[in-house]
Amino acid sequence: MKMEIRPTDAPAGAEICGIRLSGDISADQFAAIERALHQYGVVFFRNQDLNPVEHLRFTRLFGELETPVLEQYTVPGHRALIILSNVLKEDGRPVGLVDAGQFWHSDSTYRPEPARCSVLHAIEIPTEDGRPLGDTLFVRTDTAYDRLSDAMKARLKDMRAIHSFAHPYRKVYERAPEEGGGKRDKLTEEQRKAALDAIHPVIRTHPVTGRKCLYVNEGLTAGFVGMDETDSEALLRALCAHCTPKDEIYHHKWQVGDVIIWDNCMTQHHATGGYHWPRQRRYLHRATAKGSVPF
Ligand code: SIN
Repeated sequence: MKMEIRPTDAPAGAEICGIRLSGDISADQFAAIERALHQYGVVFFRNQDLNPVEHLRFTRLFGELETPVLEQYTVPGHRALIILSNVLKEDGRPVGLVDAGQFWHSDSTYRPEPARCSVLHAIEIPTEDGRPLGDTLFVRTDTAYDRLSDAMKARLKDMRAIHSFAHPYRKVYERAPEEGGGKRDKLTEEQRKAALDAIHPVIRTHPVTGRKCLYVNEGLTAGFVGMDETDSEALLRALCAHCTPKDEIYHHKWQVGDVIIWDNCMTQHHATGGYHWPRQRRYLHRATAKGSVPF
């Protein structure tokens, strides 16, 4: 089988055909996958059959595995594999993260060494009239940097932002259902204490491509260091909108068996939701490879 790379019509995203991720992957094949990931920010593979061991083995090729904070949503026996799902157990509790990533973000920016890349495998995908529901959207943060004015590039050059695991809990998850929250378990006291905060440069250099990336996001960035709350909120809103123009978005339409990998420095993503339990079931596994300290 020969590997073939087919870019999408959007700035981010390419399909890679002709490889079975559950099998042995040669050094040349892996180098081609990494090259495509750094070129397109997001790569995906159709019709993959990956069990948890194979999923984690493949993800480990990109680096050491991250351990998700919310242990209760991980696959039993596989602490590094988290379940993203709207499926509810008999007691009404979700089997996985029921509302993962339903805002623009890149993964684990609240860690001192945020995620390098995430590997998401679709096991069940909801549909309506044969159409898949719950697209995931992707944009590039390197082209977002390129599109900034010279004045804004100069302003942001030495700025730093605070990223926080607890931020979306305060903003969304722990609000009442009528305010859009209430679906996810509240953090336990222990999880709250262990919740991470990190400060990173607003303009980050990609460790492999050397490209500058705009590194703030709607979901996990709490504000800017040394700026009052009102100014910080206004700048954050403007930069987040700048990162996500409609005509730059790659819409991933899921199929069962998809494996999608995204680079968390040069892209942001947003899960759109829009499917309803119990009529429509969504069930995916995600593993994440650790990254390095942003510079
Ligand atoms: C995420 O990893 O942020 C969620 C992606 C998805 O569920 O489509």
